[in-house]
Amino acid sequence: MKIAFVGKGGAGKTTLAALFSSYLAAQGRTVLALDADINQNLAVAVGATPEEAALLPTLGESLQDIKEYLRGDNPRIASASVMVKTTPPGRGSRLLRVVEENPVWDRCVRQIGGVRLAVTGGFAETDLGVACYHSKVGAVELILNHLLDGPEEYVVVDMTAGADAFASGLFTRFDRTFVVCEPTVRSAGVYRQYVDYAKEYGVALSVVGNKVSDAMDEAFLRDHVGADLLACIGVSRHVRAAEQGHARPIADLEPGNVAVLDLMREAVDGTGQDWHRFTRQAVEFHLRNAEAWANAKIGQDLAAQVDPEFVLGPAVLSGS
Ligand SMILES: Nc1ncnc2c1ncn2[C@@H]1O[C@H](COP(=O)(O)OP(=O)(O)OP(=O)(O)O)[C@@H](O)[C@H]1O
Ligand SMILES: [Mg+2]
Repeated sequence: MKIAFVGKGGAGKTTLAALFSSYLAAQGRTVLALDADINQNLAVAVGATPEEAALLPTLGESLQDIKEYLRGDNPRIASASVMVKTTPPGRGSRLLRVVEENPVWDRCVRQIGGVRLAVTGGFAETDLGVACYHSKVGAVELILNHLLDGPEEYVVVDMTAGADAFASGLFTRFDRTFVVCEPTVRSAGVYRQYVDYAKEYGVALSVVGNKVSDAMDEAFLRDHVGADLLACIGVSRHVRAAEQGHARPIADLEPGNVAVLDLMREAVDGTGQDWHRFTRQAVEFHLRNAEAWANAKIGQDLAAQVDPEFVLGPAVLSGS
């Protein structure tokens, strides 16, 4: 199950993505956490020291190898150099399982605080003026597009703030999107903008209120987001303690906030995976990116990369 955490800057995307990942891992569930935010904070939020986080391998630096691996022997993709972030899988492509040995995970996934995690990597000084961050986040988009995950496998993605997720098809890659929303007009405004973009793509989303102090805060959120409001997290001593350098084990999270994580897990578990839609939208965004910039960049018509016979999903495994 692919799960996104989105919302206004500072709303608590990283905090909730980390709490949710740690909570799932502590229950012995299968989790893979991916940091796709330009502010790379997820590793520290699940328990790395800043020094450890700085030494993590990044998906961004392995982008070419990731492309080379995923391409497999797909005849429509002659080399990694013609693969762009939206290039969809087809027959011959390699698919990823959440738990397996593969060179991408070997190279980029590390266990931190019980959570398996991979990070995109920050915006390096050398990127200035020559690359945009979206090309690095492209590694996450490629991984999600080639990921054959199933129920009770939780792939948690910490996303960039605000509407940046709409710079590509990334926002359509999730089975469930949690919009983290503070009880403020600006935070609710980001929710509204997200819904407006996402609704025509059938994105399943739930709002998680964060830093909600009292019934008035909750009523404010309900007024602004209506039935999309799943639950609310208060200002948490557990979270604050971590910010003050005294991280506590997830088992010490306040019971009321654990109950919210339970509801979030139930919302994910109650979501169906629509592989036909997933595949159709991967193709749609690929064609759109091809026209807008990628054909010109690569010097080929990248529509030819689309395998019209291919639908990602469990059926691929049975060889059909
Ligand atoms: N429930 C909470 N209780 C107390 N503090 C919180 C809570 N949620 C978030 N915070 C604090 O609010 C700040 C912003 O949270 P966080 O970094 O998770 O937001 P973000 O949405 O990921 O921000 P960015 O847009 O910068 O990535 C952090 O200092 C975090 O510790
Ligand atoms: Mg963040």
